[in-house]
Amino acid sequence: MRLLVVNGPNLNLLGARRPDIYGEETLGELEDQCRTWGRSLGFEVATFQSNHEGAIIDRLHAAIGDSVGIVINPGALGHTSYALHDAIEATAIPAVEVHISDVAAREPWRAESVIRPACLASISGKGIEGYREAMEMLAAHVGT
Ligand code: DQA
Repeated sequence: MRLLVVNGPNLNLLGARRPDIYGEETLGELEDQCRTWGRSLGFEVATFQSNHEGAIIDRLHAAIGDSVGIVINPGALGHTSYALHDAIEATAIPAVEVHISDVAAREPWRAESVIRPACLASISGKGIEGYREAMEMLAAHVGT
């Protein structure tokens, strides 16, 4: 059972960008962790990162019939992109939104998520552990 982990704009800079907020792990380290966590839950994890909204939407569409769950950190697109909301909804694949930082405790515009209604749940402020929690939720949901 494949699980897709998507990271959006600027998350390629994890480890270098605001480590005080986002931690010191790089994107590669995070993706390795996700593969390990996924394996222990019975998932084969596919990872994808892009700074481009359309590329993320195309990757989500490609998950139809291929992935049983989606973990998505949309970056700032989560605050603004109705197209991303619609793409997640269109896949009909259970998805969990993750934010590394506590978006509710930062600038007011970060508190809003327009993709949340298309997701099973939204996790924020738990660092990269949030991805693990999202995978556990999806494992319980799809019954690995
Ligand atoms: C983020 C929070 C967003 O507000 C921000 O634009 C990001 C990262 C997070 O993981 O905490 O790029 O999604």
